[in-house]
Amino acid sequence: MAHSAGFEALDFQCWPEETQLARSREFLAQMQTRRSVRDFSREPVPYELIENAIATAGRAPSGANQQPWTFVVVSEPALKQQIRQAAEAEEKESYTRRMSAEWLAALEPLGTDWHKPHLQDAPYLIVVFAQSWGVEPDSASGAATRIKHYYVAESVGIAVGLLLASLHLAGLATLTHTPSPMAFLSALLERPANEKPYVLIPVGYPAEGAQVPRITKNRWPASWCGAEDCPGSVRGREGDWR
Ligand SMILES: Cc1cc2nc3c(=O)[nH]c(=O)nc-3n(C[C@H](O)[C@H](O)[C@H](O)COP(=O)(O)O)c2cc1C
Repeated sequence: MAHSAGFEALDFQCWPEETQLARSREFLAQMQTRRSVRDFSREPVPYELIENAIATAGRAPSGANQQPWTFVVVSEPALKQQIRQAAEAEEKESYTRRMSAEWLAALEPLGTDWHKPHLQDAPYLIVVFAQSWGVEPDSASGAATRIKHYYVAESVGIAVGLLLASLHLAGLATLTHTPSPMAFLSALLERPANEKPYVLIPVGYPAEGAQVPRITKNRWPASWCGAEDCPGSVRGREGDWR
């Protein structure tokens, strides 16, 4: 495919197959140990690990390359305390009044409730905002103009996935947290109207003796639903390597 101006040569690394397999297996093994952690130690974390994770997230694909995300890093104890108080107020309301019996039953195996000490204990909170639309100066008048964003939720979700993977590979624990509703985050962090809170991620080291619920994950090929029935699809490899 020939292009002219505005294009550049692709920078792409080709590996021998055994290297591909080794890298792929190593990454899989690493990610199989990722868990959501709800008990954090207050031990400090090198800030560059947070910066690198956000830079990694920023390499995510996004609809029309609009990169519709904002990552806000909170470490100040007073602000973390305010976030915890606001989150616990919402969560208390949710757990005691707003959640359906079905929802509470789905959460029951996780052992969660409205207490959120991790919001103060974790040295960093990464608050992710999704930019529902963009704001750019009009080329003629300079006035702030609203720009339509495409596939915002998908784009931000992919970016958060990369963020979580980077943090995990760096030896840090995370929680994907959505204290609902999350409007208090916009107010406390003074975000503009085009940014909606997407997820709140405490980051740090697990507390000593931290426990996680015993859960199961679908195993190959169960999460490749229908692969064997679809004409032309690649049949899942049945192996004992995981
Ligand atoms: C979109 C999303 C929202 C979540 N919200 C919460 C939350 O508010 N509180 C919480 O304790 N866990 C939350 N979780 C974490 C899930 O409970 C957790 O990922 C799931 O139980 C699987 O456990 P694992 O992450 O250890 O594999 C959320 C996860 C996702 C993907």
